[in-house]
Amino acid sequence: MPKQDSKGGKAAQRKPAARRPAAASAAAGPAPITKAKLIDHLNDDLAKEFQALIQYVQHAAVITGPQYDAIRVELAVHSNEEHAHAISLSEQIDFLGGTPGVDVAAVQVSKDSKVMLEQDLEGELDAIARYKARIAQAEQLQEYGLRRALEDILMVEEEHARDLQNALDL
Ligand SMILES: [Fe+2]
Ligand SMILES: [Fe+2]
Repeated sequence: MPKQDSKGGKAAQRKPAARRPAAASAAAGPAPITKAKLIDHLNDDLAKEFQALIQYVQHAAVITGPQYDAIRVELAVHSNEEHAHAISLSEQIDFLGGTPGVDVAAVQVSKDSKVMLEQDLEGELDAIARYKARIAQAEQLQEYGLRRALEDILMVEEEHARDLQNALDL
């Protein structure tokens, strides 16, 4: 039957094509990392935790609108949690033999309440991607205590993102 032959032919062509990228990326593995480079990355993460801490304090104070009553309270809670992350990262950087930085990444502000929440969400999504990469790097260097600390931070950042997505009706 010509129809069956052509379907079978297409399926047979698709399968190996779908497998190839996965096999290639598995073979390549994660990019190699050194302890010094990991400390640099963790200090970048720390600067962004200080940014988030400050940004949430400001946004919690100035956000307006009855629809944002619940998230206003959450933003202040988030700020405290970013503070805890900064303490955890600073300890981990010190354990690794580095010096915890005191830089603050650029704080995002707006006069528009919805834009504030979008800025906060953008920061959280960026944090989630960075901490996933950092966990893989810690694993590569067999720094399992660091990996555990980063996993704890990642879980909280995922909660933060969900809170903001709910407030933004996403
Ligand atoms: Fe954080
Ligand atoms: Fe966060």
